[in-house]
Amino acid sequence: MFETLSALPPDPILGLSTAFKQDPNPRKIDLGVGVYKDEFGNTPILDSVAKAQQLLLASETSKVYISPQGNQGYINGMLTLLLGEDSSIIADKRVAAVQAPGGCGALRILAELLVRVNKDTIVWVSDPTWANHIPLLGDAGLTLKTYPYFDKATASIKFDEMMDCLSKVGPNDVVLLHGCCHNPTGADLTKDQWQEVAALANKIGFLPFVDIAYQGFGDGIQEDAYGLRTLVESLDEVIVAASCSKNFGLYRERVGLAAIICKNEEVKNKAQSQIQSVARAIYSMPPSYGGALVDIILNQSDLYTLWTQEVDTMRNRMADLRAMLVSNLAAQKIDKDFSFINQQKGMFSYLCIPPEQVMRLRNEHSIYFVDSSRVNIAGINHNNVEALAKAIAQTL
Ligand code: LMR
Repeated sequence: MFETLSALPPDPILGLSTAFKQDPNPRKIDLGVGVYKDEFGNTPILDSVAKAQQLLLASETSKVYISPQGNQGYINGMLTLLLGEDSSIIADKRVAAVQAPGGCGALRILAELLVRVNKDTIVWVSDPTWANHIPLLGDAGLTLKTYPYFDKATASIKFDEMMDCLSKVGPNDVVLLHGCCHNPTGADLTKDQWQEVAALANKIGFLPFVDIAYQGFGDGIQEDAYGLRTLVESLDEVIVAASCSKNFGLYRERVGLAAIICKNEEVKNKAQSQIQSVARAIYSMPPSYGGALVDIILNQSDLYTLWTQEVDTMRNRMADLRAMLVSNLAAQKIDKDFSFINQQKGMFSYLCIPPEQVMRLRNEHSIYFVDSSRVNIAGINHNNVEALAKAIAQTL
């Protein structure tokens, strides 16, 4: 039965980890998969998470099934984190939500729901977007199209072209937006630009689909929710996929949230029944453990404070690494200005170099990052930054 299948190439992002592990060069540098690393290249368990684990171990009395909806304490905590303490949308019971297995699970649940609403739904994604958006949404049956987003020549957002394109999409189309820390470019919309997008969505009627996987890694936990909150405050309907992989460091526990902001409570009740049935039809119910940890952290003030401090540490470290990379590149006297790296936000930067040069850095210097030239800033440290800058200088 399976002889007719053809073998597929490795995943463009996850495949880099395998290649990196197999490289015997002791000076190899891993700037591939989007995982936070400390100065020693480790991804330790956050202290807030370690403390929550102890509390959970002491209090959990059963491993009986949870519901397809997931842990309600987790869902409530996440909605407050995303929409704000005083959100009238939460108070008005306009949000349908399920705990999802990771941000990927959330994206897929929402994609399946969009197909249930209309199998011919078109989703517009930024050019470029995170590589896994394409299979996550496309394999559910949605038609994907791209809107202009990033100009490699100037390393900046093509906002006018983006808006021109979005002004022509259909009223039943969906537009995928990165809530903050755009993956792969690190180039985020300004506050004014978010307001313009919200006004356009109001005018045209398209549905914003916000993927927010890096809240707290850009400007701050509250600040990074600005775009999402601007949209939900001015529109009847928005859908949201959130992830706790990065900001809680819970990658392998698969903790995400799929949320649908509806026009009113009556529509919310219908949407809630539908997303629960989507979840039931794919995997029945989410894994409990990671969501239970986030529930504890978000709903216990001492752990919440500790967690916010840990997020601040990760964000500030990545900002310092950006500055360090830019000054090391400047010291190489390369004929290319990399100062745009300092303006980009979060875990990723786009070096704006062609794939041949990315391959040369991989093959000749054992420096691993995505073919698009996306680097994981968190993989830089004081020991490797000079070698990285030198290798880039030799390659350009
Ligand atoms: C990334 O973009 O590197 C991460 O989100 C990991 C992944 O699943 O691709």
